[in-house]
Amino acid sequence: MTGTLLRIEGLTARYGTVQVLHGVDLEIGSDEIVALLGPNGAGKTTLLRALSRVVSSRGRMVFDGTDISSWSGARTATSGVGHVPEGRGTFVDLTVDENLRLGALARPRELKSTAGADLDMVYETFPVLQDMRRRTAGLLSGGQQQMLAVGRALMARPRLLLIDEPSLGLAPIVTRQLFDVLAQIRRRWSVSLLIAEQNARLSLEIADRAVVLAKGQVAVSGSAEELGYGDAVRRAYLGVANDEEGGKGAGR
Ligand SMILES: Nc1ncnc2c1ncn2[C@@H]1O[C@H](COP(=O)(O)OP(=O)(O)OP(=O)(O)O)[C@@H](O)[C@H]1O
Ligand SMILES: [Mg+2]
Repeated sequence: MTGTLLRIEGLTARYGTVQVLHGVDLEIGSDEIVALLGPNGAGKTTLLRALSRVVSSRGRMVFDGTDISSWSGARTATSGVGHVPEGRGTFVDLTVDENLRLGALARPRELKSTAGADLDMVYETFPVLQDMRRRTAGLLSGGQQQMLAVGRALMARPRLLLIDEPSLGLAPIVTRQLFDVLAQIRRRWSVSLLIAEQNARLSLEIADRAVVLAKGQVAVSGSAEELGYGDAVRRAYLGVANDEEGGKGAGR
């Protein structure tokens, strides 16, 4: 890790009376890709929503050296935290180009003047969007819409991009293409990525580190390589305790 971009400590979140996150600690480095893994209902989406302040939470969040724990969603979004929500959230009646230009509304004020150059860079990053710039977003394929959603978020010039289930509903080959581009954008855009994904194998391929959530807590974290080769991820997903060393801890 080359310097910490985001550090959260003791993050808790609830929907009504039901607590979903139970004290999550997490660090993301500058230009780092972190895979957020875990079974259905583990709290991945809730964690991303808490970070972008779409759901309220408690705990400490320090972003780029500044305590942002009490910031609003709007302030967080215009200060470098981008969010590509599950289901993409593009405007289906607007064109590709209009969607991208809307993304620029969340740029930090000092970067407003460079939006045009970044629009060009989005089209270089996703050439297929350039070919379809005047097409209505609702007519794009699922993979193209996901690229548009990422491109739109990049137009805000985030330092950290939260991406929720990018592979959802996409064919394997399209998912692969999308992840190849995600692997490239951190350098091209100087952005860190936190990717919540069910596809553990593919996300571990492009990630530097991975964090596995289970029942609203960090079950395992480590380098993507460690987690990819070991069976810690499988254990965390299946909720099976470590049965090495003579079955110690097994049987939960
Ligand atoms: N709006 C909501 N109101 C009430 N409970 C919710 C709401 N959204 C999620 N939950 C609950 O919070 C828990 C965590 O859900 P969350 O969507 O964060 O999990 P997830 O890890 O993203 O799961 P998935 O892999 O299915 O996307 C689940 O038990 C879920 O039922
Ligand atoms: Mg989710």
